Amino acid sequence: MDNARLTINDQDIDLPITVGTENEVGFGIGKLRGQTGAITVDPGFANTGSCESAITFIDGEKGILRYRGYSIEDLAEHSSFLDVAYLLIYGQLPTRDELDVFHTEIARHSLLHEDMKRFFEGYPASAPPMSVLSAIVSSLSAYYPNGQSEEDVNLNIIRLLAKLNTIAAFSFKKSIGQPYIYPRNDLSYAGDFLHMMFAVPSEEYEVNELLVRTLDMLLILHADHEQNCSTSTVRMVGSSGADLFSSISAGISALSGPLHGGANTAVIDMLEMIRRDGSNFQKYVGKAKDKNDPFRLMGFGHRVYKNFDPRARVIKKTADEVLGQLGIDDPLLDIAKQLERIALEDEYFVARGLYPNVDFYSGILYRAMGIPTNMFTVMFALGRLPGWISQYMEMKNDPATRINRPRQIYIGQNHREYIQIGRRANAT
Ligand code: CMC
Repeated sequence: MDNARLTINDQDIDLPITVGTENEVGFGIGKLRGQTGAITVDPGFANTGSCESAITFIDGEKGILRYRGYSIEDLAEHSSFLDVAYLLIYGQLPTRDELDVFHTEIARHSLLHEDMKRFFEGYPASAPPMSVLSAIVSSLSAYYPNGQSEEDVNLNIIRLLAKLNTIAAFSFKKSIGQPYIYPRNDLSYAGDFLHMMFAVPSEEYEVNELLVRTLDMLLILHADHEQNCSTSTVRMVGSSGADLFSSISAGISALSGPLHGGANTAVIDMLEMIRRDGSNFQKYVGKAKDKNDPFRLMGFGHRVYKNFDPRARVIKKTADEVLGQLGIDDPLLDIAKQLERIALEDEYFVARGLYPNVDFYSGILYRAMGIPTNMFTVMFALGRLPGWISQYMEMKNDPATRINRPRQIYIGQNHREYIQIGRRANAT
């Protein structure tokens, strides 16, 4: 596209065109209101680019996902989660020495301030772990100053990466009434998380390398996904000048919803429901298609992918392998596969480009690791953290950033005369 011109009431406006490195095209409407008095309307921002970004590329039609140019399949197969976190945040894969320093720094900051343990004690055992996660991440602002030097900023990045692992595991221990298990510096990021989740003081805990590798891979697959709901929230909150911890706490809240990260929990609930109902797939596919029924196939569909979500492909294959190696026969895996097959043969799903997304099979792997359903979205948050951090930093360092402040089309009452109570008619 060389030229974009908008005509409003015989007035022609030339719109500047931006072309990305993968030839995505956008046109700028930054001056539109000033020149014409009109704004664009785009509910859900489905056609609105909110920023330029060099972090993640998605081609939803072809089912491509890349972090900093590397394909998700390569990263999932060959990298560790900390490699990928480093790549997202600092722009390059680390050398062996850089990775060692990164791991050492993260391990060194993985303890929580002892006072913070009291926060966990204040919550009921039934507290949703995502609420606890968001609140405690927000509280980190109260402990660690929001210094602006490069060193201070980097220290807070390390602190957040280090402590989210511990906060997540502590919230689980609190919910089951077991003592907190403190982090171990000699373990990998994923290994330490599993240790803090499942070790008990009275027994030796041996980290299962298959589970560590599987968790690492799941975290990699969730690590970034460009301008999704939670990431846009992080950027939006941060655009006001709010600090890293507050902005990411808001992102965690955004992720908790069932249309976003909360879908991984909803998928398992749905598969369980289908199983209890005698695996009546046609009934549930029918409900999902019925516009008068609020039921949707959870873990299906995506705003950007209109083809297979590449993350779902990797997870499905891994679920088969890992469950096989662990000798687990999970009936939900079979139900998920059958549901996928039936939906993908159905014209409704084909016509709308609805395929399994990252949340469809991930819960089956989490279950195989012994992670309870109410922790699934916390696992998503752990994975997404480096993405949120890198997007926050990109936003902060981009001279084009302005406070995020959309407009609206007002559809309420026109001006009315104020009438005091007692003189007003009862119903208006
Ligand atoms: N089941 C049945 N119909 C669906 C589904 C579904 N899961 N998803 C979309 N549709 C239909 C929808 O009813 C609409 O039909 P029509 O054009 O006839 O009105 C059409 O497909 C387009 O859907 P949409 O709701 O306009 O699409 P969206 O881009 O606004 O929403 C979505 C995307 C992911 C919220 C949606 O597909 C959905 O609700 N999926 C289920 C929840 C889910 O799995 N969420 C996880 C997303 S991936 C990971 C993440 O981001 O956290």
